[in-house]
Amino acid sequence: MNDLAGKHIVLGLTGGIACYKSAELCRALIKAGATVQVVMTEAAGQFITPVTMQALSQRPVYGSQWDVRADNNMLHINLSREADACLIAPASADFMAKLAQGRADDLLSLLCLARPRQTVPLLIAPAMNREMWSHPATQRNVAQLCADGATVLGVGQGDQACGETGDGRMLEPQELLDDLVAFFQAKPMLGQQVLVTAGPTYEAIDPVRGITNLSSGKMGFAIARAAREAGADVTLVAGPVSLATPRGVRRVDVLSARDMQAAVAQHVGAATVFIACAAVADWRPAVAADQKIKKDGSGLVPELGFVENPDILAAVAQSARAQCRALYCVGFAAESQDLLANAQAKRARKGVPLLVGNIGPATFGQDDNALLLVDEARAQELPRNSKLVLARQLIANIASRIRAGGRNDAG
Ligand code: C5P
Repeated sequence: MNDLAGKHIVLGLTGGIACYKSAELCRALIKAGATVQVVMTEAAGQFITPVTMQALSQRPVYGSQWDVRADNNMLHINLSREADACLIAPASADFMAKLAQGRADDLLSLLCLARPRQTVPLLIAPAMNREMWSHPATQRNVAQLCADGATVLGVGQGDQACGETGDGRMLEPQELLDDLVAFFQAKPMLGQQVLVTAGPTYEAIDPVRGITNLSSGKMGFAIARAAREAGADVTLVAGPVSLATPRGVRRVDVLSARDMQAAVAQHVGAATVFIACAAVADWRPAVAADQKIKKDGSGLVPELGFVENPDILAAVAQSARAQCRALYCVGFAAESQDLLANAQAKRARKGVPLLVGNIGPATFGQDDNALLLVDEARAQELPRNSKLVLARQLIANIASRIRAGGRNDAG
């Protein structure tokens, strides 16, 4: 995905063993469409060579403010003016202390200080031993950097190069990439609490068998990610899928429709937007056997009776209406034919202002999809694209409906 197309990133490396991850990060940024200018402190050069970073970034690497390669001899100005963002990864405790004090005795700190703050954001990915990270001096510097307008990304938790275990690892390259991509997204959902359901449900027949469906969860996970990128606080109630949790999203794993209903009931009270993307099983076996149902050789097959599952979306929408709650509800319809007519009918039946139709067999398990947004008045197509791009378009669309005072009823 070309999420960083057209972006020019100054990638600053300071002294820390996490420099080995910066090589991968540099590749990931370029793969996402960015151009990358690497600037290294002298200490970073103890951990990784400029040759490696030059080969990966396909640009000369700078380390000294006295480098004569710049015609005007003002590297700190040239490099910072060209950038769309400066990302310091890894940022050592010492380098953060330096930035917090506004010192500028090497090229990287100099260009951070000299950058136009309004247009060139500074993102910092700390990396250090857990004692250094939790030290009051470091935490004071983090607070100061945030107060000065920098974005201090989180740290990872786990085994550290020194043999200790705790907070302070640099985030993984993919996590840093996701954070940077999210940073550049518009924030129309700031202040919203979004609850999303995703994936299939699993309805047990006995302890080893059950009924499920082909939903991969990819669309719902993309929606959760897009809502988070757009600034919302996001809770994702996920059926049984093995997808990675999007950055910054609170995830609740469930199995059956009734588990999903309970998890939704627990979180919907705080929500302002509910997006029901899950492919919830319509029916479940009336009885789930305690023990595995055995084939006894008689040729007789077990009789499975079914009961209907609760309709989570319809119930949530109805109760929000009854309480006059400002909860904007969005449903999904996975159809195999007559998308518009089915989506319109489903929107009315569920009692929601917006229903998103898609052709199930054409999208299950795929990374792309095409959506049809159906409201009271009209239908709008979002043409085939990756699920993440569609999710971003859908979230932007929902945000503008909320801004326009969208009511939570079917019209
Ligand atoms: O009725 P149908 O399953 O086609 O409706 C699909 C929409 O309703 C989706 O938004 C889905 O998440 C939601 N749904 C639900 N609970 C059910 C069935 C569907 O929330 N039991």
